[in-house]
Amino acid sequence: MFAPEIYAARREALRKEIKSGIAVFPGNTEASFNYPSNTYHFRQDSTFSYFFGLNQPDLAGIVDFESRTDYLYGNDVDMDDIIWMGPQPTMVDRGKLVGIASTAPLASFGKYIAEALAKGRKVHFLPPYRGETKIQLSDLLGIPVASLKANISVELIKAVVKLRSIKSAEEVVEIEKMVDAAWLMHTTAMKMAYPGVVEQEIAGTIEGVALANAGPVSFPIILSIHGETLHNHYHGNTLTEGRMLVVDAGCESVETLYSSDITRTVPVGGKFSQRQREIYEIVLEANLKAIDAIKPGIPYREIHLLAAGVIVDGLKKLGLMKGDTKAAVEAGAHALFMPHGLGHMMGMDVHDMENLGEDYVGYDEEIVRSKQFGTAFLRLGRKLQPGFVLTVEPGIYFIPALIDQWKNEGQHTGFINYDKVETYKDFGGIRIEDDVLVTETGHRVLGKPIPKTVAEIEEIMKR
Ligand code: GLY
Ligand code: MN
Ligand code: MN
Repeated sequence: MFAPEIYAARREALRKEIKSGIAVFPGNTEASFNYPSNTYHFRQDSTFSYFFGLNQPDLAGIVDFESRTDYLYGNDVDMDDIIWMGPQPTMVDRGKLVGIASTAPLASFGKYIAEALAKGRKVHFLPPYRGETKIQLSDLLGIPVASLKANISVELIKAVVKLRSIKSAEEVVEIEKMVDAAWLMHTTAMKMAYPGVVEQEIAGTIEGVALANAGPVSFPIILSIHGETLHNHYHGNTLTEGRMLVVDAGCESVETLYSSDITRTVPVGGKFSQRQREIYEIVLEANLKAIDAIKPGIPYREIHLLAAGVIVDGLKKLGLMKGDTKAAVEAGAHALFMPHGLGHMMGMDVHDMENLGEDYVGYDEEIVRSKQFGTAFLRLGRKLQPGFVLTVEPGIYFIPALIDQWKNEGQHTGFINYDKVETYKDFGGIRIEDDVLVTETGHRVLGKPIPKTVAEIEEIMKR
């Protein structure tokens, strides 16, 4: 956890954004997976953690914008709890950890909300994403679950996005620790990526590396020799010579929840073939040029399109694309090979604040989301500011079903050489992803450098 003053300062900063009513922050509860007392690994709500720091279930917080008081709710443990869970700090002590003197049992959370509603005060709440929280809010606010969405506070969403988007030095330290742990996850995977190994052996090993060295994975590990499936969670394939292994994995801090999100792609067996190297170098160039362009004030969509241009240029040299690069990117022809965005905000959530609504996080009045296939999937388009942490993750994928569809529909025939593309249908995919901080003057790639060039990858994979 951070010092109590940090949590107090965050709540104070929220008060500068909103002047009336109260904001309610339900923490997460335990969630069951097959019977009530057998629960998933507990994961606190990120916004609750941001303002109230504590990492236990069944807590809640209120920020009262008018009385200028913060409240923390939760129940002290009884003997039954102590027998099963061991001794626990009192709520008063928990409050001290986050700079809150006003603590009360959880039942008082509902009472405070009821009183506020009775006085006609505005009760701000964020979009709930878990069933348990939806039911809790529905009960406390007297709003049917189906109508919660229509009653969320856009004012609170915008205020939280404003605060959480800018990472302070201590937040960056936490993220960087997780990238360093991802270094160990990824270099371990690289060393294991030899023919005959089953994907699951590597996925299981690196999940253990995360848990043993830092914390849980920040999202289910994506690891596959079929990297052309962007989020492939099937780990049953045996690695074979000639395939590339995509590993997209990161972890999150047990205490503060800050995360990492890194992708590396390596040739099974440790040596790039000519064809693999050619495609890899294009993705690497897109990754490096995009990182190089990161600085305050530039819209991230511009960098996305820059990376798309690098990909088109590279694919033109290989005869897979043709025509004018700028026109191809404008038309969206590159999206056959990269049907996703260049990156997203990252922080306590691996797709930071996605629960608050992607467009509030990644777009604004000035830069609205594109409707074009490919660029429409870009999660972050707006102008960059110092303190943003984001991912840079270009890729090239050969997705047979998508190739067939576009070819049959005659899409972008002026930019795509389908005959040549046909010969790459067995290639798979490549993605390279780094986590980058926007600084006052430019950018900084976070964490210990993870092998990324052809030479670095071949070197670390040498046996
Ligand atoms: N790990 C998912 C992503 O890169 O967005
Ligand atoms: Mn990723
Ligand atoms: Mn990512």
